[in-house]
Amino acid sequence: MRVRTLIIGAGAAGMFCAANAGPDVLIVDHAKKPGEKIRISGGGRCNFTNLDLKASNYISRNPHFAKSALARYTPWDFIGLVSGHGIAWHEKTLGQLFCDDSAKDIIAMLQSEMDNAGAKLMLETSVEAIEYDGSHYTVILLRGGRQTVCKAEKLVIATGGKSIPKMGATGFAYKVAEQFGLSLTDTRPALVPFTFSDNRFAAISGIATPVTARADQGPAFAEAMLCTHRGLSGPAMLQVSSYWQEGEDIHIDLAPTTKVTDALKQARKDSPRKSMTTALGKFLPARLVDLLKDELSVTGNCAEWSDARIDTLARALSNWSVKPTGTEGYRTAEVTLGGIDTDGLSSQTMEAKNAPGLYFIGESVDVTGWLGGYNFQWAWASAHAAGQSI
Ligand code: FDA
Repeated sequence: MRVRTLIIGAGAAGMFCAANAGPDVLIVDHAKKPGEKIRISGGGRCNFTNLDLKASNYISRNPHFAKSALARYTPWDFIGLVSGHGIAWHEKTLGQLFCDDSAKDIIAMLQSEMDNAGAKLMLETSVEAIEYDGSHYTVILLRGGRQTVCKAEKLVIATGGKSIPKMGATGFAYKVAEQFGLSLTDTRPALVPFTFSDNRFAAISGIATPVTARADQGPAFAEAMLCTHRGLSGPAMLQVSSYWQEGEDIHIDLAPTTKVTDALKQARKDSPRKSMTTALGKFLPARLVDLLKDELSVTGNCAEWSDARIDTLARALSNWSVKPTGTEGYRTAEVTLGGIDTDGLSSQTMEAKNAPGLYFIGESVDVTGWLGGYNFQWAWASAHAAGQSI
């Protein structure tokens, strides 16, 4: 079999590339259905882009690499496509756009765009080997126990990263990159909940509260924190996980929207005989206060608290530090941090500098977005850049 373009991986990036790569495209995937991560994304409603997109929303060894593709295919381009397909959407918070109805609408849209472009989709197909003879890529495909040899001028690798192996993530892209002499940056799970070996949050699992949180390095995120059976999750913690290194603390402001010192002094004035835990319960979940009271020595009635003691407590609440044991790992991570080093790729086209006709797009590349639709926008933009150049 001969095609002009073979795309491996029918996820977000691969499908969008197939729709934009001109005629004679074959796209293969080892899964039973295309776009499975899209289906489960955004709680089933797919947070497909973000209105407030900046290069600083992405982590990469080269923070400039993603700029060109992101500037040439913007959130508004994708919104135009979504709206053109009659898919209703809404902004939830912080510029995050979701489907009103179902993430399946995005998959159907991508399939229809692929059909219009004449791209052929082959599922339940794995790749046995890839060879390059200087002008063509020869790829041995395996489907239902039968081998097919496919020759292609252009080969696009869109097999994503290592997150959620149960859904077919393999790290295949990294092997291909190594075969063709491209370097990799270190990879690790990101946008992932933290775990604590002492299960200290199990007793208050389900409690959520707005916080501002940061790792030793990286920005502070003002979003919700959720206590779980195994540790800390919620958007604030997922964001911080992308910057956190093993062994480090996380720094959390537990009451970012309250002037804690003023609030506690007022409570002392208004209700001196109420307990300090009750006063804290006005702006923190009572069960969280219960968990913290020993660690922060919160005892007695408000009347017993001096100004200095209130100041110390306020400082402790605004910079509460915890040391996770680790994270939930690739089992639940939304993305893989790191990947194919961008030094080996053209930022204009995603083509490998030392392997003409070989492209890497989407999550396989060392470009990792924040939570909030940024990772899909990278998938669309990098796929579009490759598709346009093919
Ligand atoms: P993706 O993983 O989507 O696709 C790779 C494809 O390659 C898969 O179809 C896989 O089966 C196939 N494949 C892998 N190895 C193969 C092999 N060896 N042979 C053949 N095929 C192979 N992002 C966002 O912006 N908004 C959101 O709402 C969410 N929500 C979300 C929820 C959850 C639970 C997860 C796990 C992730 C998200 N994400 C997200 C992240 C987002 O899903 C992710 O960044 C993109 O799907 C990446 O797109 P890719 O096409 O690069 O990989």
